[in-house]
Amino acid sequence: MTGPRVGRWALVVGAAGDLGSAIARALRVEGWSLLVADHPSRADPLEHVAAALREDAEAGAGQVVTAAFDVTDAEEVSVTLRALAAEHGVPGAVVVSSGVQGPFRPIQEYDVADAARVLEVNVVGTFSVLAAVGSILAEADRPASIVLLASMAGVSGAPNMSAYSASKAAVIGLARSAAKDLAPHGIRVNSISPAFIGPGVMWNNQVAAQAAVGSQYFSTDPDEVSRQMIGMIPLRRCGTPSEVADVVAWLAGPRSSYVTGQNIEITGGSV
Ligand SMILES: NC(=O)c1ccc[n+]([C@@H]2O[C@H](COP(=O)([O-])OP(=O)(O)OC[C@H]3O[C@@H](n4cnc5c(N)ncnc54)[C@H](O)[C@@H]3O)[C@@H](O)[C@H]2O)c1
Repeated sequence: MTGPRVGRWALVVGAAGDLGSAIARALRVEGWSLLVADHPSRADPLEHVAAALREDAEAGAGQVVTAAFDVTDAEEVSVTLRALAAEHGVPGAVVVSSGVQGPFRPIQEYDVADAARVLEVNVVGTFSVLAAVGSILAEADRPASIVLLASMAGVSGAPNMSAYSASKAAVIGLARSAAKDLAPHGIRVNSISPAFIGPGVMWNNQVAAQAAVGSQYFSTDPDEVSRQMIGMIPLRRCGTPSEVADVVAWLAGPRSSYVTGQNIEITGGSV
């Protein structure tokens, strides 16, 4: 069970991003106070997100506090999250939305150093946050819900995205395993796997990057790639960041109290 939201904090890591900021808003609408975090280099967009939330009367009245850390620095993650928990109390919900897509190219041309960087941010970084909050929550023995951002690339495998696909398959495994480790403390862990979500940086990037690769799967014209991708979706449109955020808000809260160790696909019908 996830405890009452009133007076409790939800931590969103990667909150300066398209999905992270939409997730933060959806959680605030549900009554959570927010700790929004992102990489130190993203302090300005993060402050912008926090300011917009505070000014958004329809998004609720909970507090919004910002924090900065690099998820790949496990020591920094642990120290920062322990300090935040000491100041604000242990979070009742944690969402790890930090991530990078990495370069787009077929595996036979993929640079190993590029792949290592994608795995470092998406796998080691997610692991660092999960391990740190798992330790803080288990010590406190407080129920909570943790949601990790995976991707349909990790389920189906996306062309020209081997490192990203591998990293997101790992995130799904992390959620399934951590759900078993943390269940004795009443802590739930799930992952979500969105497919094509737009508008946003990752949608724009992947349309342009898939066109630039020039593979058998997509046109070399970005506009045509966009049409091809949407044509693969039974609902014939991209999902929106707020449609992803609504699923996360449900998973974070008490209405999903018997759901743990699952990967929820958000795809408009694609499998
Ligand atoms: N947008 C999509 O279409 C889509 C689809 C499936 C999965 N996802 C996943 O959802 C998550 C959010 O995607 P998004 O669209 O908001 O992307 P985004 O690029 O807009 O946001 C990602 C955020 O992660 C942060 N980040 C990256 N490296 C970090 C680090 N080392 N430390 C701390 N923060 C770091 C970035 O600063 C950024 O704010 C990602 O994990 C992504 O892989 C996105």
